[in-house]
Amino acid sequence: EKAGYKHFMLKEIYEQPRGIIDTIREKYSLEDGEIYFGEIDFEKIKDIKKITIVACGTSWHAGLVGKFYIENLAKIPVEVDIASEFRYRNPIIDEETLLLPISQSGETADTIAALRLSRKSGAKVVSICNVVGSTIARESDGVIYTHAGPEIGVASTKAFTTQLVSLFLFALFLAQKRNKLSNDAIKNYLGELIRLPEKIEAVLKHDSYIEKIARDFIHYKNFLYLGRHYNYPIALEGALKLKEISYIHAEGYPAGEMKHGPIALIDKDMPVFVLGTKSEVYDKILSNVEEVKARSGIVISTVTEGDVDIRGKSDYVVEVPHCINELTPFLNSVVIQLFAYHCANLLGLDVDQPRNLAKSVTVE
Ligand code: M6R
Repeated sequence: EKAGYKHFMLKEIYEQPRGIIDTIREKYSLEDGEIYFGEIDFEKIKDIKKITIVACGTSWHAGLVGKFYIENLAKIPVEVDIASEFRYRNPIIDEETLLLPISQSGETADTIAALRLSRKSGAKVVSICNVVGSTIARESDGVIYTHAGPEIGVASTKAFTTQLVSLFLFALFLAQKRNKLSNDAIKNYLGELIRLPEKIEAVLKHDSYIEKIARDFIHYKNFLYLGRHYNYPIALEGALKLKEISYIHAEGYPAGEMKHGPIALIDKDMPVFVLGTKSEVYDKILSNVEEVKARSGIVISTVTEGDVDIRGKSDYVVEVPHCINELTPFLNSVVIQLFAYHCANLLGLDVDQPRNLAKSVTVE
């Protein structure tokens, strides 16, 4: 059932273009610039004043990107909480709140508890789930299903990118309904979105090159991942993936925080993985890379094709295709997933079933 791949995780990384296509299928018309979410009764949620996203682990990282999408495109305030924190902190939730739980399995205990708690306070619930008929799906007013297909590897990969694409489309949907974007702007975004799967394919072509890079790093004990804005959550995700399957300690940081502490760690034994794709914060990241190099840090970066500056300062570079800012998290995700995968595989570890972990965390 691994279809010739050595591990489910690798197979699932490769299934991402397909998962994205299946997730957005029939949800838009490119000609009219229309977005459809038949599964959501917009009348029920049209008066919401804020959105609260709750999730755990990788799904929480998707939520962090989702906040940027929804706030930037639909102009609705969004807070994102780790479900296990949310449920014990007396969150402010009322009838004007839309609760948006994100969960691959739909069975994560803390996320379920956060959903039930919010319902009691009158919140409407629209969830993003991969498993049809799961507890979270059943207890929601509306469900946006990710069509990733079954995810077997404990490390979440295709569930993550299909969550991201659902959030992006949902943000466009809300923007359209609330007249926050022109029809032309929506058409432009949709046009970019449908080119995404082939760009992911292009990143997948770097697989063996990424494996080669991984070979040089498997004996390091620590890693830092840096990103900003849309790619700050991807830095967190990169660190989580590496920890989870290769047992190499890693931390993700918003790059601007370096000066506030973590830069003290930088030396030749602390490689830094930089998400350096072209964006409005590109120059900021470039100076973060310079700070790392000035302290003898080793830098691996992702850059956009044709990039000169970050490439020039980096020790290792993975190139990804041009795309709009909003969609760079997808391309960077594939790189960090493959990197973590190859580190774990080269170390001979049980990639699909890392120690101490379960695929779905049904106890708190
Ligand atoms: O099924 P869920 O999306 O609710 O699961 C949440 C986390 O347990 C999950 O994303 C976990 O962090 C993954 N193992 C990360 O790869």
